[in-house]
Amino acid sequence: MQAIALTELVDEILAGPAPLPLVRAGDPVLRRPTPRYEGELGDERLDRLVRAMREALHAAPGVGLAAPQVGVPLRLAVVEDPAEVPPETAEARGRVPLPFRVLVNPSYTPVGDGAAAFFEGCLSVPGWQAVTARHGTIRLRGQDERGNTVDEELSGWPARIVQHETDHLDGTLYLDIAETRSLSTTQDVLERWAQPTPELAARELGFTLPRVRAR
Ligand code: NI
Repeated sequence: MQAIALTELVDEILAGPAPLPLVRAGDPVLRRPTPRYEGELGDERLDRLVRAMREALHAAPGVGLAAPQVGVPLRLAVVEDPAEVPPETAEARGRVPLPFRVLVNPSYTPVGDGAAAFFEGCLSVPGWQAVTARHGTIRLRGQDERGNTVDEELSGWPARIVQHETDHLDGTLYLDIAETRSLSTTQDVLERWAQPTPELAARELGFTLPRVRAR
């Protein structure tokens, strides 16, 4: 996208309702791989977009939001997870607090062959969750919002969040790789499948815990 059209689009979105309305599954913007961010917005406009995305993330509430989910086709996402879950659940899922951060041009590669399968949802697919296998540990590469190089390893829930948000930037939704027999309403996940691991759900719904799918 040309810089001028992109800045106009972002200005238009930022001038609209707050918190930013979220794009839902069915909108092609969620299915197009995003172009890399090369500074087109300038620091001040980027900061305003990031603040608006964080506000939308808190309002949802959620733990990650990719730019296409607010209608902006850019390789940019925000993540933040206070990890307020029971200790047993946190332990089983590797769910540790992930302080707010901005992912610019993120990409990831698996580290080792560890995998973890848990219920996962998406703000663009409200009301539903499904068991999704993710790499247990990843190497995240990209930049932060000031262009500083990021190259680090993440495990557990933070690794899951980063994989989910980075996949958004490639036009992939978690449902593309989820075990569809596990698909449950959020209500059912809360009432039936809130155990630390999805083994009971697997038995009752008739699926085997999925492995990471190549993509
Ligand atoms: Ni999502």
